[in-house]
Amino acid sequence: MTDSFHCEQIPYSVLAAEYGTPLYVYSQQAMTAALNQYQQAFAALQPLICYAVKANSNLSILRHFARLGCGFDIVSRGELQRVLTAGGDAKNIIFSGVGKSCAEIEWALKQNIRCFNVESLPELERINTIAARLDKIAPISLRINPDVNAHTHPYISTGLKANKFGIAYQDAIAAYQLAATLPHLQITGIDCHIGSQLTDLSPLVEALERMLLLVDKLAALNIHLEHIDLGGGVGIVYQNENVPDLVTYAAAVKRLLAGRHLQLMLEPGRSLIGNAGTLLTTVEYIKHGEEKNFVVVDAAMNDLMRPSLYQAYHAIVNASQTSADELTADVVGPICESGDFLAKDRTIAAKAGDLLLIKSTGAYASSMASNYNTRCRAAEVLVNGAEYKLIRQRENLTDLLSPEKVCL
Ligand code: LLP
Repeated sequence: MTDSFHCEQIPYSVLAAEYGTPLYVYSQQAMTAALNQYQQAFAALQPLICYAVKANSNLSILRHFARLGCGFDIVSRGELQRVLTAGGDAKNIIFSGVGKSCAEIEWALKQNIRCFNVESLPELERINTIAARLDKIAPISLRINPDVNAHTHPYISTGLKANKFGIAYQDAIAAYQLAATLPHLQITGIDCHIGSQLTDLSPLVEALERMLLLVDKLAALNIHLEHIDLGGGVGIVYQNENVPDLVTYAAAVKRLLAGRHLQLMLEPGRSLIGNAGTLLTTVEYIKHGEEKNFVVVDAAMNDLMRPSLYQAYHAIVNASQTSADELTADVVGPICESGDFLAKDRTIAAKAGDLLLIKSTGAYASSMASNYNTRCRAAEVLVNGAEYKLIRQRENLTDLLSPEKVCL
């Protein structure tokens, strides 16, 4: 069992000693359990669960979800390449995102992906033109912005009028009518994604209700859809949040879809991987500043952007049998920015050399990592019971410097 000292059956200290820190560690059982919760809750609807690759795009993690029957939600040529390399089936790949380039569309069409989630009228035209050139028919779904308030952090809320995502609700019918006139498009569905880390179910249900009104209007215009995609967004517990209950969510969806012949699709990311991951970091120094104490660790904002970017909370526990006294401190990294913090005003017992666990870092941690301050990106390890494997080696300075040229 995963606890403060172990990931499944492996002590965190063993992994830190073998691979060094900072280190991302993932529990395969936790990933499987999270997916099982979706599969069981929604079983009656037989959904296609398309894992949102952006949450964590490590090839082994993609392979794991592919083996368990997932499709994939991708947003770039790079993510498409990852899914195919990991053994994912193109037939179960949907392509989201507001800025698909011509090259990306062409590549995805050639791979025969399941569907493009189209976000604008110019994108419709662009896909039609490229499909015509390739003598193909592109399956498309329109991402509609249902204009509901997801009540989440503004940076990760996407379903409001002011957001750049999707086609405005009041323009949706006209957009479908345009799509229906474009000969190299095949309309297959409707899609929305209203935001991430949602703690309340009601906006998700409200969005579905608003989408179904459109489905009915379209049917009256003889535009019939095969699928409805509700996006991702289900929140996870980082601290003590209430999170949507999947069984309740599934029951609401089932009630609203009853009697309709619409295949359900979902695009969960965070809720499949977020709580399966832990970032291991070592304390470098305890520093007593004039106003504050600092626990200076070897992980930084380049390894975990979420606290700096969204004021996100991640629980931190000490995995060493520490002899230190408790103190209240900011947990900070070595990067030369005041915004480089992993936690603010935490009460923690720690001394130099202790191993800390930054919890709930499976999603949007390694996938958002950067090389700022010329820091090598951390290694990643996947644990399964009593076994573990290195699924990404630590970057080294040759990896970092070799693309650059000194030519002066
Ligand atoms: N589908 C689409 C079209 C999306 O844009 C996203 C996430 C998802 C699905 C998956 O959403 P999830 O189930 O993970 O909530 N970096 C931020 C989160 C950004 C989410 C972007 N889109 C964070 O660290 O909180």
